Amino acid sequence: MSERELLMIPGPTNVDPAVLRALSKTTTSHTSPEFVRIFRETLDNLKKVFMTNNEVFVISGSGTLALEMAVANIVEPGDKILNTVSGFFGNCFVEISKVHGAVPEVLEVPWGKSIKPELVRNALEADDYKAVTVTHVETSTGVANPIREIGEVVKKHSDAFYIVDTVCSLGGMEVRVDDWHIDACASGSQKCIGVPPGLALLSVSNAVLSLMETRKTPARFWYGGLGNWLPVMRDPSKYFATPPVNMVYAISEALKLILNEGLEKGFNRHHILAEAFRAAVDALNLKLVADRESAADTVTAAYYPDNIEDGAFRSKVKQNGIVVASTLGPLKGKGFRVGHMGNVNLNDIMSTVGAIETTLRYLGYGFDYGAGLKAAQEKVIC
Ligand SMILES: Cc1ncc(COP(=O)(O)O)c(C=O)c1O
Repeated sequence: MSERELLMIPGPTNVDPAVLRALSKTTTSHTSPEFVRIFRETLDNLKKVFMTNNEVFVISGSGTLALEMAVANIVEPGDKILNTVSGFFGNCFVEISKVHGAVPEVLEVPWGKSIKPELVRNALEADDYKAVTVTHVETSTGVANPIREIGEVVKKHSDAFYIVDTVCSLGGMEVRVDDWHIDACASGSQKCIGVPPGLALLSVSNAVLSLMETRKTPARFWYGGLGNWLPVMRDPSKYFATPPVNMVYAISEALKLILNEGLEKGFNRHHILAEAFRAAVDALNLKLVADRESAADTVTAAYYPDNIEDGAFRSKVKQNGIVVASTLGPLKGKGFRVGHMGNVNLNDIMSTVGAIETTLRYLGYGFDYGAGLKAAQEKVIC
């Protein structure tokens, strides 16, 4: 069977051949001057992508490690934390907070809805919190939460640390860590950044670094302790634990691709392609899971029409060479998700819409065949 398939799941995404070549380079010593140079340059480039002058961390692990590092280094046992939840991934913050002894107050909205800044303001006026967590793009629903506006509220109405999960947005949608007052911004390598899974990415404000000096108890997280990694991130010739040499080569290449395209241009490409995909979904009379005004530019979740079975749909789409994902949690079996991020292009979108149409028709769904392709194409002028 051919290995050729298009990954249109919400991560991992398709990896550019230049990044794959970087992965296959000869593994060098993690203390070699050449590796140290590349690691240093990578950290500088990552700051540009986070749009920050804060310290950034690149650690072996996945996005979840970055979320846990953010929470574990900020909260102490008994601290109150406001966890906003708009789907599956928002809830991860609640579990992480509990494991690290914090007391979560959960501000939850139904799946498909976004977190309104007023809700956060009300919560902050009613109580004091050590930290507030928000998931930028909630990958389970395709909702983008307004992290800029929430950041303003957090800054204005509290002394809380602002923790944001940008696993499904960094590099694909605007994330301005410094301008938006984000104290800890957690992400991963395998989505918009376009590297295979395996790197936790994190930016941390000076306020958080100062907190390391004044905490009553050390963070209960040796591998994820900021104090352990900070000297390495400031000088990659130092050692705390062996860095993932080839993954650093890979992200070094991927960040160059992102910066060479230009961040704004990349965001715009994601936006146009997301609009094209959503136009196709509309034209096929499928319903979006996300409220339209908060639909993300990196992932779309849509409900199946009646009588379309999840397993049959996705395996037929896969036979057509495209991999799409199921919906999660309470939506399991009710819909599918398509990731349109990273190095995604118009051909990928058109192929995906084409495969979805062919499959829906094969499974007996009645619609205007070709309408999705036409609607998508009409959204893109190039
Ligand atoms: C928004 C969001 N947060 C966190 C995670 C967890 O990241 P990882 O699977 O890399 O640990 C994911 C994974 O899909 C995600 O989409």
